[in-house]
Amino acid sequence: MKPGVVMFAWLPEQASTVAGEVDRLFLWMLAFCVLILVLTVALVVGFCVKYRSSKKRDSEEELLEGAKQRRLEYLWIVAATVVFLGFFGWSANLYFRMFKPYEDPLRIYVVGKQWMWKAQHETGRGEINELHVPVGTPVELVMSSQDVIHSFFVPAFRLKHDVLPGRYTRIHFTATKEGSYELFCAELCGTEHSEMIGRIVVLSEEGYEAWQGRSGGAGRFAEKGRQLYENLGCAGCHEPGRLVPAPPLDEVYGRSVALASGARVEADRQYLRDAILAPNQEVVAGFEAVMPSYREQLENEDIDALVAYLVEKGAAHE
Ligand code: CUA
Repeated sequence: MKPGVVMFAWLPEQASTVAGEVDRLFLWMLAFCVLILVLTVALVVGFCVKYRSSKKRDSEEELLEGAKQRRLEYLWIVAATVVFLGFFGWSANLYFRMFKPYEDPLRIYVVGKQWMWKAQHETGRGEINELHVPVGTPVELVMSSQDVIHSFFVPAFRLKHDVLPGRYTRIHFTATKEGSYELFCAELCGTEHSEMIGRIVVLSEEGYEAWQGRSGGAGRFAEKGRQLYENLGCAGCHEPGRLVPAPPLDEVYGRSVALASGARVEADRQYLRDAILAPNQEVVAGFEAVMPSYREQLENEDIDALVAYLVEKGAAHE
């Protein structure tokens, strides 16, 4: 089946690279389960008729003889196991492919909050309850929540992933068709959960450029992070030669960091986020636990911007 073919009217449109395969897997599983259902019901009804009380029952010997014939039973167990392990292998493989990060994606920060979706492009352009992406381009969403658990659900992309407070989750997709697609919150998150609806607008490459046109160039979002970094006075401790020594942040992203506890952690986005919100949880070896938490002072988008800036700072040294 070619992607893009609408197989059943009740399935949503297919508009991402994985949509066709997700549907195939779903339909094969459905077909197999229907087969089992029909077989089971047929046998139940058949035996009810055959062994109804008015008829002669099998003798004791006949029953014993039947119990010895295990071949059918083995066949049934082995066949069912093989088929279901097959489905497991297929779906696990598909899952890994869906969640494997792209090499060099278009990265967009998404924030869920009661009750809206906010998106921040690396150009600095922000949007609410809308997300514009170019067709045929690998996109990565770096998602977090400002309050409770939400779930980012785009039926046409066959894509759904939880958005959590205090933690980044990431999803990847490549849209295959221009158009406008529904975006839902798929996790009960309060009184207006059902209103937490948006749309994904897939544009042609040129259309996307034009849409971005009015905003600044790439790196503007990180620039916002740099301004925050200065306004908050981060440099007061984190630049070399300061009175209160703090770990330099120039080359931290992507490196392995030794902690005071003796453990080592990889400085990824999550690490940077944690270091801003709960700095004394993982203190870097050789430094004091003196940094205050910025939880109360920063909006979720600000944290994303700071993280984007630190990532850029780190990447510049590679
Ligand atoms: Cu957010 Cu439901």
